[in-house]
Amino acid sequence: MKLCVVGTGYVGLVAGTCFAESGNDVICVDIDVAKIERLQQGGVPIYEPGLEELIRRNLAERRLWFTTDLVAAVRASEICFVAVGTPETDNGSADLRGVIKVAEEIGAAMNGYRVVVCKSTVPVGTADKVRDAIRTKTTHEFDVVSNPEFLKEGAAVDDFMKPDRVVIGSTSQRATDLMLTLYKPFVRTENPIMVMDNRSAEMTKYAANAFLATRISFVNEIANLCERVGADVAEVRRGMGSDRRIGHHFLFPGVGYGGSCFPKDVQAIIRTAKENGLAFPLLNAVEEVNERQKHLLVHKVVGHFGENLQGRHFALWGLAFKPRTDDMREAPSIVIIEELLRRGATVNAHDPVALGEARKVFADRITYHRTNYDALEGADALLVVTDWNEFRRPDFKRMRELMRTPIIFDGRNLYEHDVLREHGFTYVPIGRPALEGR
Ligand SMILES: NC(=O)c1ccc[n+]([C@@H]2O[C@H](COP(=O)([O-])OP(=O)(O)OC[C@H]3O[C@@H](n4cnc5c(N)ncnc54)[C@H](O)[C@@H]3O)[C@@H](O)[C@H]2O)c1
Repeated sequence: MKLCVVGTGYVGLVAGTCFAESGNDVICVDIDVAKIERLQQGGVPIYEPGLEELIRRNLAERRLWFTTDLVAAVRASEICFVAVGTPETDNGSADLRGVIKVAEEIGAAMNGYRVVVCKSTVPVGTADKVRDAIRTKTTHEFDVVSNPEFLKEGAAVDDFMKPDRVVIGSTSQRATDLMLTLYKPFVRTENPIMVMDNRSAEMTKYAANAFLATRISFVNEIANLCERVGADVAEVRRGMGSDRRIGHHFLFPGVGYGGSCFPKDVQAIIRTAKENGLAFPLLNAVEEVNERQKHLLVHKVVGHFGENLQGRHFALWGLAFKPRTDDMREAPSIVIIEELLRRGATVNAHDPVALGEARKVFADRITYHRTNYDALEGADALLVVTDWNEFRRPDFKRMRELMRTPIIFDGRNLYEHDVLREHGFTYVPIGRPALEGR
């Protein structure tokens, strides 16, 4: 099939590349000239495991193309995906200007029947707005399909190639048939392709993200209560998650959720509810808990060292909002580092892939280290912020030697008390008993 994907970010680039990998001819379009030039050379602007190899292969096989020429891309494609950003506006709603602008441009470029697919996360009713926008620009026939994306950064290629489900919001049999043909190679293990109306498809994406965010805030509340009552949240989540009605996913307490999706999607659904005369107190609480949680690790640091951190020096492991990505959008590390700096501390940071992105946020206000051990030199304490696998089994003896004082504030509950006791660390996890070192 011949496709174009407008918006070559985390979602558009992965979707376009994976569609090419399954044999389609795909043109990826973006307005960012530098990004497109880099992609044309086989360079990859984001870190995403497995993506670079797929891009190179499909470029070489001449199934994948990158361009800034939207008109030519639309003319060469039967299906046009819209995957531009839908950032949060000042009032919390999703900013649809990019989506509508692209819809108009697609409408103006069309020279025959097209399926226009909304892959961006958009509020309920956006498909109608997209339809109206295209209609003002063309007399050709077209259909608008809502096809929300559920991939996770850090595992985006895997998620796209083997999705748990594909949701297609469509009321046109012609468009639905094309979408089913396109997605068939991705559901060979019989995971479902669900066809529903556009509004339900749009709502499904927000409901899924809001629910996952709710689980995270819920377990963070449980963790905080565990600390008060002397329970261990690691045991509690084990006991709770074993119930098949509950499950283990997204029940890890930590420093709060971040990233480009959960914070803005929770805000957007609250906003949609409000516009429709419905308060959504549950999600307001989810947000409030998350904001508080982002400050928790620094509260613990202050509990130990006092309010004034002047002259204190901290190592920080993990900058991206989660492992296996370089995405710093809404990363809890930003709140943590800003708080430490505000209180007069200095910060030595390490992240396996996000140092470049982090530099755009903090410039020379912190120092950056290529290895996690380099960051520890002379530190009064270590803060673990992202749960990269390589942080799970560090050399504690070496860490002790490098640090001025052996203290770990663990925002991801990565370590076992026994091991840390053996090495004489003071250990402050989340929702679990703290350990006094020697
Ligand atoms: N990142 C994720 O994990 C994820 C997962 C599921 C859904 N989503 C949703 O997918 C959408 C895209 O997210 P993202 O993270 O890929 O965004 P992104 O910011 O990484 O990428 C958006 C891209 O669109 C381009 N763009 C903007 N306006 C354009 C225009 N008029 N014409 C052509 N290109 C244009 C930008 O230059 C950028 O490259 C959002 O709605 C998001 O909520 C994201």
